[in-house]
Amino acid sequence: MNKNINTILHYHNTTKHSPSRYARSLGYMDWATQPNPFREYKGSQKLLLPLALNYPTPPYMLLDTDLPDAPLCKESLSQLLQFSMGIAAYKTTGSDQWAVRCNASSGNLHPTESYIVLPPVQDLPHSHVGIYHYAPKNHELELLCDIQSDFFQTLPKGSMLLGLSSIAWREVWKYGERAFRYVHLDAGHALQSVVVAAKLLGWKATRITNLHDMQLDTLFGLDQTERFCEKEHADMLLVLSPHKVSSTLDITPLLATLPQHFAGYANQLSPQMHPWELIDTIIETTHAQERPKPQITTHRVVRTPTKESKEVIMKRRSVHVMDSSLSTLTQEQFHTILLSVAKPLDEHPAVTHLTLFLHRVEGYEKGLYLLVRNNDHLKELQQLMYNDFLWQKTPFENLYLLQKEDYRFASKAISCSQAIASDGAFSLGMLTRFSQELELYGEHRYKELYWECGAIGQQLYLEATSLGCSGTGIGCFLDDTMHSLLGLKGNQYQTLYHFTVGRGFVDSRIMTLPPYPKREH
Ligand SMILES: Cc1cc2nc3c(=O)[nH]c(=O)nc-3n(C[C@H](O)[C@H](O)[C@H](O)COP(=O)(O)O)c2cc1C
Repeated sequence: MNKNINTILHYHNTTKHSPSRYARSLGYMDWATQPNPFREYKGSQKLLLPLALNYPTPPYMLLDTDLPDAPLCKESLSQLLQFSMGIAAYKTTGSDQWAVRCNASSGNLHPTESYIVLPPVQDLPHSHVGIYHYAPKNHELELLCDIQSDFFQTLPKGSMLLGLSSIAWREVWKYGERAFRYVHLDAGHALQSVVVAAKLLGWKATRITNLHDMQLDTLFGLDQTERFCEKEHADMLLVLSPHKVSSTLDITPLLATLPQHFAGYANQLSPQMHPWELIDTIIETTHAQERPKPQITTHRVVRTPTKESKEVIMKRRSVHVMDSSLSTLTQEQFHTILLSVAKPLDEHPAVTHLTLFLHRVEGYEKGLYLLVRNNDHLKELQQLMYNDFLWQKTPFENLYLLQKEDYRFASKAISCSQAIASDGAFSLGMLTRFSQELELYGEHRYKELYWECGAIGQQLYLEATSLGCSGTGIGCFLDDTMHSLLGLKGNQYQTLYHFTVGRGFVDSRIMTLPPYPKREH
């Protein structure tokens, strides 16, 4: 086996939580080094975007239909960014106040940053091709450079590029060695947030698969290390366009025209950082590799009438206490939630399946179920899991009942004793094809597996919210305890992210305030 894959397997195994040992972290909150959640490029030209809160958005049920495409202009850009990476609300209790965003993030630490590359757009300060950082704190763009290039002639009119990057330190500060996993789950959440916000504008998001991370670092100026105190690494590039485009793109002409120094210096996020050698190793190992070749698939979800999309996006929140007496879902609601994630969320074939603990769903017995999201893996899963599992078909396509039992105790124990996993309607683990994926596609695939799980998480949050329910991502779980419960040995499949859905208690001590309050006044 290739040395880098071994490094990844070592990282993955070392950062598992088990009943006797949690993955290594500081073990306390070092408030003195708490990172600033808002990146800012000091000295860059800023452009305040208009707030999109009053713009109408289509009903959420139309999300997967072909909506009319909006022109690329200041207003559509504002809507795209605000409803994906923007602040959704401020929360306040006593003297504490903190921002929550449209994209969920582990511990609300928000390691994911976003950059855009634009052709000329009216009222924007660049004249040729503009590269900007999006700063959610004030909902503004920061111009990093304006370059002479005819790059956009190769793409359909109205197309733009959007890149996502990560500042791992923001998560490492709190979660230590396991944090790299959360960073890339968060990147997946951000990816799906952008995909959904683009759909509302009638735009299609295509993730580009032929670029190296280092090319993307260059595109966003992240390799100009003198401009940064804390390292930031590029993760992915999307083309957003009224039309579906190829998932390969030649950005070399664009890279060739970039200036050596972009405008602005990145603000320092922490006065100092704790070193984590294992984190440096996993970042380096998974950076800069070729991407796997996608196979193209498409799908549609049928939804019943619901709220306006922006209401769903802005109201999405995690719950920290589930109310079991209110958490029962009807079969129809359960099916709507499953349907939204049953097929791949982008062009890439699904490699993640859902192991569900059903506690309170009408028409379903309490028990352990498996939603197979890619039938090519069914036989393999049947061979690897306990051979006395039932594999009984259910009314939902590709959802199998494996075992009838009350899993409330087990699901809570597996989720680091968090009751949100047992007190809701159901909780689940995202079981991902693992070692073969790394061997087939290389080191970079480790991050992409987490992106797929994060994207599923973001979609589950939205779907639950649209039905008046809530969800919460669960990054804290006992990896191998879950594997043992399924009868899995070895690492062909690994559980990478857990999630719970139900109805939560509203904490009346925490008040919700609007986002960008100063600007509304
Ligand atoms: C990858 C990920 C892992 C998470 N893990 C947990 C968890 O183990 N327990 C928990 O109570 N919340 C967990 N959360 C919820 C976050 O704490 C929550 O998203 C964050 O505080 C922001 O709040 P919001 O979702 O309401 O915007 C997780 C969220 C994400 C995205």
